[in-house]
Amino acid sequence: MSKSVAAHTLGCKVNQHETESLLEMFRRRGYEVVDFDSPASVYIINTCTVTHLGDRKSRQVIRQAAKRNPEAKVVVTGCYAQRAPEEIAGIPGVSLILGNRGRDQLVDLVEGISGGDSGKEDALTPGPRRVVSDISRCREFEELPFALERGRTRAMVKVQEGCSQFCSYCIVPYTRGPVRSRREEEIIREIAALVENGYREVVLTGIHTSAYGQDRIVDGKREADLATLVEDILLQVPDLPRLRISSVEPVEVPDAIPDLMNRHPTFCRHLHLPLQSGDDRVLKMMRRPYTSSQYAAVVEGLRRRVEGLAVTADIMVGFPGETDQNFENSYRLVRDLGLSDLHVFKYSPRPGTPAAALSDQVPPPVKEERSKALLELAGRLRRDFARGFLGTTRGVLIEQQVPGKKQRPTGGSGTAVWEGYTDNYLRVAVEVPGGEDARGRLARVKLTGLGWDMVLGEII
Ligand code: 5AD
Ligand code: SF4
Repeated sequence: MSKSVAAHTLGCKVNQHETESLLEMFRRRGYEVVDFDSPASVYIINTCTVTHLGDRKSRQVIRQAAKRNPEAKVVVTGCYAQRAPEEIAGIPGVSLILGNRGRDQLVDLVEGISGGDSGKEDALTPGPRRVVSDISRCREFEELPFALERGRTRAMVKVQEGCSQFCSYCIVPYTRGPVRSRREEEIIREIAALVENGYREVVLTGIHTSAYGQDRIVDGKREADLATLVEDILLQVPDLPRLRISSVEPVEVPDAIPDLMNRHPTFCRHLHLPLQSGDDRVLKMMRRPYTSSQYAAVVEGLRRRVEGLAVTADIMVGFPGETDQNFENSYRLVRDLGLSDLHVFKYSPRPGTPAAALSDQVPPPVKEERSKALLELAGRLRRDFARGFLGTTRGVLIEQQVPGKKQRPTGGSGTAVWEGYTDNYLRVAVEVPGGEDARGRLARVKLTGLGWDMVLGEII
């Protein structure tokens, strides 16, 4: 078989970005990139371990790959590989387990040329080769080649690695290591190349994005933060149609961000501010560095300064000891703040984290019930937020045809329904006449109504 590689990504946006880079490394070495359900000579599974569901899904996908082509090399990397290489080594058919470091060596490792110099490995252990180093000692951002695949409008760009915050429930600081910021020149070089290759929107991502620059102190001063980075990108890549930031710790939103949003229409009016809980006792147990009223003050302050700002949040239910009253406080806070959308997580005890050792774990059915209530609330919040913009006109970056809504013959040429997002993250459906390929078009759209899970709009 000719050399081919396929990848499956679990988990976060950072993983997606990294998978693209890993595939690009193989492409440069003469491999053809194929779909994950096709026969391939190398399968990469980039895993997630943020909850036990990440572990479970990762194991499923690893088994599938090993079955699909028993001759293939099955490579397991990412956070689950970093956290539990021995668990993965027990799955039949795995050839290589590579943690979150030394990935620049991946092709050589697969081809058996080099062991890399960054990994501690144990050649005497039977089973698959393990290259998993002590990530807590890692101080460098590992540059990987970036991928410029065409055909999509939005690209993730990683700006930093790691997290040094150690919230009590979270495994991520252990699997990703301490904060390491990427060099600004590299970030800008990647974004400029993406724009040149037809990308229309860039989303800055990281493990703890708002810690950008925290690890680079010169003469007792932080050289850069997320706002200086954003401003430099906006100034140095002026033909980038849209820039978004993915997730920012609520008490770390740089003061200059609202001003940058007001001065640069290309900088999207959307902030994802992970809340986790709206109860002060639970927040303290989580080791989150704010109270519910501080969180509310941040959101209200930002909204006062930026018209139309969308604020979305992560929220967790079932943290050990969370009572009905504690949950009620979370529910009320997000409802009363009128957030624009929520990502709801059911607490999952992660081995080795302080919260996993707490005795009063919440029973799964209670977590389920609380999660359901918040998901319903999230739907209402999305619609309420969208309703506030009906009748107004906003830019929509058209990304894809709405699946299942192909050509509809109205008159001669027919229309097709396409979807995309506004700067403040409203998902909008628009009709586009004829067979026009609208992908990547930044259209002015009048928002006219609410559909089932989208806003309806007309291009003007
Ligand atoms: N259980 C459930 N959700 C978790 N998250 C992080 N750790 C856990 C855990 N142990 C969620 C948080 C975080 C998001 C990326 O994942 O809400 O913001
Ligand atoms: Fe995990 Fe907290 Fe770091 Fe986010 S900030 S990655 S939740 S430790």
